[in-house]
Amino acid sequence: MKYLFTIACLAASVLASPAPPKGTFEWTPTLAGYMDVVFSYIQQAKSGAASPTCDLAKAAMPVAPTPLPTPSGLTLQHVALGRGVQNYTCANATATPAAVGAVARFYNVSCVASDWPDLLPIMPNLALQYPLPADPTGDLEPSNLVLTTHHYFANTTTPVFAFDAPESPDFGRVFTQKVNSSEAPTNSVVGPNGQGNGAVAWLYLTSRADTVSEIKAVYRLSTAGGNPPATCQGQDSAFSVDYSALYWFYS
Ligand SMILES: *[C@@H]1O[C@H](CO)[C@@H](O)[C@H](O)[C@H]1NC(C)=O
Ligand SMILES: *[C@@H]1O[C@H](CO)[C@@H](O)[C@H](O)[C@H]1NC(C)=O
Ligand SMILES: *[C@@H]1O[C@H](CO)[C@@H](O)[C@H](O)[C@H]1NC(C)=O
Ligand SMILES: *[C@@H]1O[C@H](CO)[C@@H](O)[C@H](O)[C@H]1NC(C)=O
Ligand SMILES: *[C@@H]1O[C@H](CO)[C@@H](O)[C@H](O)[C@H]1NC(C)=O
Repeated sequence: MKYLFTIACLAASVLASPAPPKGTFEWTPTLAGYMDVVFSYIQQAKSGAASPTCDLAKAAMPVAPTPLPTPSGLTLQHVALGRGVQNYTCANATATPAAVGAVARFYNVSCVASDWPDLLPIMPNLALQYPLPADPTGDLEPSNLVLTTHHYFANTTTPVFAFDAPESPDFGRVFTQKVNSSEAPTNSVVGPNGQGNGAVAWLYLTSRADTVSEIKAVYRLSTAGGNPPATCQGQDSAFSVDYSALYWFYS
């Protein structure tokens, strides 16, 4: 129950605080919805529900609006909550923004995926409300989720997942390519505070041949935010859009 109690205690202190620091940890409808689920789990725990197992065999991916290929024959190894930015460039005012990559930090939510599946899809919506912690290797404040992965692009078509943090599992550095995508569900969170241009697509990525890692497939699901404006009108030549998502790693 570690995550749940930490988050619940945090919420209690947020509620008690007349002026949250810099308005960062405000009580929002997303946080309220999250806490509703947390409290229902706490009630279940009090009434003697089975204790958490962190057994990834129990975790199940949500189905995309346009279903993505299933990871047949593969085994789920890790589920991470990603928080970062999607980068775009604009050639001129009449162009459409071009996606040029992303930079994000991922935090271990494997146990949440296994034991508290109702909580999992709300986490990106919640994470999008908060900036990344100032400490680049620290936990994802205000939770105690642990850093496991750095996400970046080797070139504009090569998303990379580097398991290079102190608490990372031994999955090396995964170089991938996009195989398939789906629009995000229409009820996805469009951006921080419900303001933005929509949630980035759900993706199915596979390892490139030059990857040295047992990870074979990566799914980006449950996205929140990250889409660029429809046109480059009034945009800088390069800009970033905040996003969050869940990433599922299979070997
Ligand atoms: C995406 O997945 C669907 C369903 O599995 C498949 O029909 C389609 O060909 C795939 N697209 C690509 C580009 O692989
Ligand atoms: C994620 O956290 C759980 C619980 O602390 C731990 O059992 C598991 O090994 C971690 N997984 C990874 C891939 O870091
Ligand atoms: C604007 O940029 C787009 C994309 O690079 C290009 O196709 C188009 O010709 C450019 N238009 C002008 C007016 O420069
Ligand atoms: C993306 O933008 C961020 C700044 O928001 C920058 O630090 C990073 O280097 C950029 N990465 C890529 C791949 O464009
Ligand atoms: C991008 O990087 C991948 C992986 O290293 C490589 O296979 C691919 O050819 C590169 N593409 C371009 C356009 O440079």
